[in-house]
Amino acid sequence: MSFVVRKYRDADLEECRFLWHELTEWHREIYQDSTIGGEHPEDYFDKYLARFGREHLWVAVDDSKVVGLVGLIVEENEAEIEPIIVSRSYHGKGIGRKLVEQAVSEARQMKVRFLSVRPVVRNIQTIRFLYKQGFQNLGHVELFIDFSKYVWRQEVDLFGCGFKF
Ligand SMILES: CC(C)(COP(=O)(O)OP(=O)(O)OC[C@H]1O[C@@H](n2cnc3c(N)ncnc32)[C@H](O)[C@@H]1OP(=O)(O)O)[C@@H](O)C(=O)NCCC(=O)NCCS
Repeated sequence: MSFVVRKYRDADLEECRFLWHELTEWHREIYQDSTIGGEHPEDYFDKYLARFGREHLWVAVDDSKVVGLVGLIVEENEAEIEPIIVSRSYHGKGIGRKLVEQAVSEARQMKVRFLSVRPVVRNIQTIRFLYKQGFQNLGHVELFIDFSKYVWRQEVDLFGCGFKF
């Protein structure tokens, strides 16, 4: 399979909105919650563009079809990978790895100190993927109380505390 990674262009908008929709579908699936992202989750990509611009966005293109998207949010001497998504039927072909490599190499060139990525704990497959790509330090852990009736999964151990996730 021959795909290329290149900078995001305005003409990629609709395909990237679709990828954002797919990213939301994935979160709906892992949380078994169809309300995540609201009625038009793809609109979040427009909000992302309005907030962070297009300078640090790259797409993976296979035969002129946009099949993956990666972005960097850069603040002072830190960068965060957000978003990272490969269209489902293109998983397992090395596209995610190429997109992460692109983001890592750009972050290195910017001379930031840290490059982070913040998958939800439930996103186990992606955590395994990211671990393989070199993200092997743990930074912040977000703890929260849920006032809704959502049933969280049992249970992951951290330092002897059993957290639901
Ligand atoms: C995570 C994701 C980007 C990976 O993309 P991909 O194109 O399928 O991954 P690749 O084919 O490049 O895989 C690269 C390596 O990671 C490994 N890998 C991929 N998925 C894996 C998994 N579920 N478990 C363990 N390893 C995995 C591959 O085996 C491969 O290893 P290798 O380099 O030894 O061959 C893709 O699955 C995705 O879009 N997931 C949903 C969106 C998401 O969760 N985004 C992150 C939000 S923070």
